[in-house]
Amino acid sequence: MTLYPQLIIDALATVTYAGTKKNLVESKMVADTPAVSAPQNPGAPWKVKVVLEFPRDTDPFLRSTVKAAEAAIKYHCGQDVEVTIETEFKTAPRPEVGQMLPGVKNIIAVSSGKGGVGKSTVSANLAIALARLGYRVGLLDTDIFGPSMPKMFNVEDERPYAIKKDGRDLIVPVEQYGVKLLSIGFFVSPTTATLWRGGMATSALKQLIADADWGELDYFILDTPPGTSDIHLTLLQTLPITGAVIVSTPQQVALADARKGIDMYRNEKVNVPILGLIENMAWFTPAELPENRYYIFGKEGCKQLAEEMNVPLLAQIPLVQSICDNGDSGTPVALNSDSATGLAFINLAQAVVTVVNRRNKEQPATKIVGMNQ
Ligand SMILES: Nc1ncnc2c1ncn2[C@@H]1O[C@H](COP(=O)(O)OP(=O)(O)O)[C@@H](O)[C@H]1O
Ligand SMILES: [Mg+2]
Repeated sequence: MTLYPQLIIDALATVTYAGTKKNLVESKMVADTPAVSAPQNPGAPWKVKVVLEFPRDTDPFLRSTVKAAEAAIKYHCGQDVEVTIETEFKTAPRPEVGQMLPGVKNIIAVSSGKGGVGKSTVSANLAIALARLGYRVGLLDTDIFGPSMPKMFNVEDERPYAIKKDGRDLIVPVEQYGVKLLSIGFFVSPTTATLWRGGMATSALKQLIADADWGELDYFILDTPPGTSDIHLTLLQTLPITGAVIVSTPQQVALADARKGIDMYRNEKVNVPILGLIENMAWFTPAELPENRYYIFGKEGCKQLAEEMNVPLLAQIPLVQSICDNGDSGTPVALNSDSATGLAFINLAQAVVTVVNRRNKEQPATKIVGMNQ
């Protein structure tokens, strides 16, 4: 008896794969040419090695197909042939742009012109407040070079794991305070990320969006970096952003930058609706004098900008020590709706729900920005 690869292929062509109801060869499941090795010494068996490729590791027909393949080879080539069958799985490709988050209803970018005005504070508290209102919420920290969410959610030591789903390895977001959360901060130290080139940051960001198991969400909040960066462009080219909320302090320099942020979203090639403005640090209130308001960054600057830009002012959040302290300690104030500040964020969440619903009624879905723009 002499064995050669075609004999093995002929044997495999007699085995039907129940997934396609065609034989293994027609189903293109024989990954490589079968390997055949002659006996090393008289009386030793012929050895055959076959690699079969299945659509996924959870394939219900995997075991029965492997058994049938082994039996067919022995039947055709001799019962004493030593058969090894290895299995491989197809890795399904990442979904295309436009089909990445099929279970996500609304995507909201939290933006500002200037850094340090409270985007991350607003994003974290808004996400928690929406979750407390009963919505399914995801939060993506897109500030690759300065991630702050792991600390604000007190999950700095978490290391998200991956699961196999539909032939793909998907990162499972961390769940904390009812919010599904991902941040580059879970994967690399901030010092490593600051050394990255722009391309590495954008590809990491795409992974956090497209290669994660976000599932069904009512609101997907994107905490963005300051300004109008590569990261913003990547977001606009990757996701149909329902709308942007712009955070600013009432200070003139912050307002000037907020205007630039608004202009970016309103650019005719971008066309992402501005859902409204949030005036953060609207006034300072000391804990011991809760009735007092000190307008240290100026008074109602965002209110005026909102009128000028014809967008709603969604909230005025005071500058209070507890907002800063609770952010640092990983227990954002929105967790406590008995506090005045917690309530301010619950009210903000309600205002966001209202403007998003109105936006969805009145305006068509956002189109993703093309790559050549
Ligand atoms: N309303 C507020 N009251 C007190 N501190 C605040 C308030 N908003 C933000 N902060 C603090 O200001 C700093 C910058 O806020 P952050 O949310 O990180 O801004 P950004 O994300 O825009 O850079 C943080 O230390 C934060 O705790
Ligand atoms: Mg931030």
